Amino acid sequence: MFHLKDHCFLKLLDLSTEEIQGLLSLAAELKAQKKNGVSHRLFEGKNIVLIFEKTSTRTRCAFEVAAHDLGMGVTYLDPSGSQIGKKESIADTARVLGRMFDGIEYRGYGQEIVETLAKYAGVPVWNGLTNEFHPTQILADFLTIQEHFGSLKGKKLVYLGDARYNMGNSLMVGCAKMGMRFTACAPEKYQPSPQLQKQCLAIAQETGAELQFLTDPREAARDADVLYTDVWVSMGEPDSIWAERIQDLSPYRITRSLMELAGSQCRFMHCLPAFHDLNTTIGKQIHEKFGLDCMEVTDDVFECSRSIVFDEAENRMHTIKAVMAATL
Ligand code: CP
Ligand code: NVA
Repeated sequence: MFHLKDHCFLKLLDLSTEEIQGLLSLAAELKAQKKNGVSHRLFEGKNIVLIFEKTSTRTRCAFEVAAHDLGMGVTYLDPSGSQIGKKESIADTARVLGRMFDGIEYRGYGQEIVETLAKYAGVPVWNGLTNEFHPTQILADFLTIQEHFGSLKGKKLVYLGDARYNMGNSLMVGCAKMGMRFTACAPEKYQPSPQLQKQCLAIAQETGAELQFLTDPREAARDADVLYTDVWVSMGEPDSIWAERIQDLSPYRITRSLMELAGSQCRFMHCLPAFHDLNTTIGKQIHEKFGLDCMEVTDDVFECSRSIVFDEAENRMHTIKAVMAATL
C-alpha cells in the first residue's frame, strides 16, 4: 500500500507530485473496496482526535466515517468544548493529545497553528482547513476531476472569487504540482499573494503547469474544463465585509452564460457549502439586505447536470481515509 508513514498532512506545498498521485490512487482503491463491500479495518485499536475551532459538515463527517471504516476510535472537540488556545497553548495541547491519540486533525485559523501542533505532537497531524490552506479538499477535488476527465495533467481549472484565501491558494498549489492549467480570476486585491504566486510558478516550471492571473471572467472561462468557486466571505471573517464582497465579487458569479462560454466539456465545482438559493439563514439575510437570490453561483448552474459538487463531497471521505491510512 502507498504510504507516507508518520508524515503530517499540512499543505500540498510539502508533497511531491508523486506523493499527491499516490494518495489519489490509494483513495480510488479504498473507494472501490468500500463500494464492493470489502472491509478495510486496518487500524483497529488506534484512536484519533478531531479539533474543530470552526464549524464543519463535510470535513468532520469525512474524518469520522473514514476513521470508523479503518477500525479506529474518534474523539471530537468542538469549537468551544476544550481548553485549546484559551487556557492552554497549542504546543502544550499538542504534547497532551500526542500522548493519547495516534493522529490529530485540526481545523481553525492561522496555518502556523497547525504547523505548531505538528511540531510538538509526535504523531501525524492533518490540516482540516486553515485560513491559508484546505489541502484535503483539493485531494477530493482532484479525485473527482480524475473520475470525470480520466486525468489531471493539462486540465484547465478556473477559480473565480476570493482567490487569496484557503481554496484559491490550495487549488493553485495543487494545480501547479499536478501539471494542470490554473487560472485565478478575481479583482487584483483578491489574487493570491505575490510570494505564493512565485512559489507556484517555480513548481509549474518543473511540472509543465500553466498559471494565469486574470480579472475578466469571460476571458478566463474560455475552454475551462472546470469552473470552480467558493463563498465570498469565509468562516472567521466579520459580517461587516459582506457589502464590500458583494460589490467586488458579483461580476465573478458562475452563471449559465459563463458555463456556455467555457464549452460543453466544462464541469462546475464548489467545495461547499454554497449560497445558490434562499434556503439558508445567511442566504435569506443577504436577500433581505442586498436583494440577491444567490451569491457565488446561480441556482440553475448549481443544480444542472454539469455540476459535480456532490461527487466532490463524497470524495472528501475517500481521500481523507487515504491520508490517514497512508500516514498512520
Ligand atoms: N468543504 C468543506 O470543508 O466543508 P465543511 O466546512 O462542511 O467541512
Ligand atoms: N473559504 C471557505 C471554505 C469552506 C470549506 C471558508 O474558509 O469558510
